[in-house]
Amino acid sequence: MPKNRLRLVGALATALVAAGLTTGTPAQAHDRPATLAELAQRHGRYFGSATDNPELTDTAYTALLGSEFDMITPGNGMKWYATEPQQGVFDWTNGDEIVNLAHKNHQRVRAHTLVWHSQLPGWLTGREWTADELRAVLKKHIQTEVRHYRGKVYSWDVVNEAFNEDGTYRETLWYKMLGPGYIADALRWAHQADPHAKLYLNDYNIEAVGPKSDAYYQLAKDLQAQHVPLDGIGLQAHLALQYGYPTTLEDNLRRFSRLGLDTALTEVDIRMILPATEEKQAQQADWYRDLTKACLAVRRCVGITVWDYTDKYSWIPAFFPGQGAALPWDEQLRPKPAYFAIRDALK
Ligand code: XIL
Repeated sequence: MPKNRLRLVGALATALVAAGLTTGTPAQAHDRPATLAELAQRHGRYFGSATDNPELTDTAYTALLGSEFDMITPGNGMKWYATEPQQGVFDWTNGDEIVNLAHKNHQRVRAHTLVWHSQLPGWLTGREWTADELRAVLKKHIQTEVRHYRGKVYSWDVVNEAFNEDGTYRETLWYKMLGPGYIADALRWAHQADPHAKLYLNDYNIEAVGPKSDAYYQLAKDLQAQHVPLDGIGLQAHLALQYGYPTTLEDNLRRFSRLGLDTALTEVDIRMILPATEEKQAQQADWYRDLTKACLAVRRCVGITVWDYTDKYSWIPAFFPGQGAALPWDEQLRPKPAYFAIRDALK
């Protein structure tokens, strides 16, 4: 690598250089290892990471975020509580910050999420609505947000986490007041507001074939029969070593593919009960390798996103006490066995 580039990258890159990871552009591809994004691109896939606004002041963090990935998801910045904190008052600050950063780094954006039961603002959950009122609130939120990001995002997670584990509809405020038709309505409204964005339904524990993924399979077929705009199914893939690997993942991806739908692994992390022993990290690496291979094996699996890339900013320890070490880079931003396993699978 030429001296002037090293100087540009600066002291912060010392650790990365030591690890053999530098932040070049494709023009320098011959003198540094390919990024996960570049390796994925060779297969016509993307490799993405979630990120969140508070982390963006960490320059060592943003250096890797900006170089290793070609797809970005805002972990929180586009959720309802953030974007419509008062009824009819929209705040794009956090979402825009991430979209602008991604575009500066020539990355695309998986936008997340429009309709969910969680992280809703108090004004919405703190009172009763009639069905007509709630439908109007939902329509306005979707159309205003999707219109704001029109042409700037690759896809939308339109509805998030709509089903229970047994494949019945989750009794959210949307379902209870509007019935199951809220999903088709949301997709139609989003499509009107940005006809080019890919529209997804997204959920966890739908990696394997089972009652919950069957519910999505059936719903997808029903929506297609009604000509509702639906482009893909997002499998969050928040996996945990103690629950076993979803061995039917590839078959599951393939059945959605056969419906003519895209699929994506949208929020991947593989947590473990701490401490993270060498053995657990090796098993985790195997799982990262296997899920990457599963996506590559299915034509319409368009890409993989990790739910942030470093244990430093993982949501896991706060939500699953005693668990963690779920991501391919450790808290010091050093690549773990999982990172090398992903590279292996992409090679
Ligand atoms: C998580 C964020 O990462 C956290 O920062 C936040 O406190 C809670 O939500 N499924 C999803 C994501 O679809 O939106 C969630 O993100 C993780 C689970």
